[in-house]
Amino acid sequence: MTIPEFQQHKSQGKKLTVVTAYDALFTRIVEQAGINAILVGDSLGVVVQGQANTISVTMEEMLYHTGLVARAAQQALVIGDMPFMSYQASKEDALRNAGRLIQVGAQAVKLEGGQAMADRVEAMTAVGIPVMGHIGMTPQSVNQYGGYKVQGKAKDRATELMADAKALEAAGAFGIVLEAIPAALAKGITAELSIPTIGIGAGPHCDGQVLVLYDLLGLFDDFVPKFVKPYAHLKTDALQALRQFKEEVELGRFPSDAESYH
Ligand code: KIV
Ligand code: NA
Repeated sequence: MTIPEFQQHKSQGKKLTVVTAYDALFTRIVEQAGINAILVGDSLGVVVQGQANTISVTMEEMLYHTGLVARAAQQALVIGDMPFMSYQASKEDALRNAGRLIQVGAQAVKLEGGQAMADRVEAMTAVGIPVMGHIGMTPQSVNQYGGYKVQGKAKDRATELMADAKALEAAGAFGIVLEAIPAALAKGITAELSIPTIGIGAGPHCDGQVLVLYDLLGLFDDFVPKFVKPYAHLKTDALQALRQFKEEVELGRFPSDAESYH
């Protein structure tokens, strides 16, 4: 999947599917399902590293996981997420760090923020690095929001988010993630833009949807936001399998003759 193909989905009225992955094993499974794009999200800080939020994730960690996914991916568009403080301090930081993600195999990068990040998006796009924007409830700003709260319910904030979306499009972003905003606002933004919007907690009118893989699969249940739909219950399956293994070993039933060499 190329950037132009990704964008064509919008003009053709075809919905886009995006999920996160952090390693080769899940990348192959996601690809077999025909998912359009894989985001190596900094959500790995929470679901892989066990941190409370994404703030502590480093550039080195993102490079490692992006490399694993990029090596395994053959069809899906691979998007590397820019971690906190890899792009906020300066345009130069942003360019260099985006370039590193591309060098380990990402086809595009994603960063959080709207108008304030437009110059970064423009600089990257100018040197051939496709950028996906991300606005609404942007987790790297959790300290400012005072928690993971829906954004854009108040009129001023909704107006700001619309301006953010337009600024990102004008700066050259190839798409924008809309996170945890009212469905009506996401519908309005999606109608105003010619680039695709990818929603997470942003209602059904976006051009595509993204979910964190382990949420979608029912593997991660420390907290499950309203916008998550678990399409499987793999944690339940894993627990059942592990308990059965333990029981069979303790009872001397595993390994049986079938699993033994003679
Ligand atoms: O890090 C991540 O997984 C994300 C998606 C939820 C959009 O940014
Ligand atoms: Na992220």
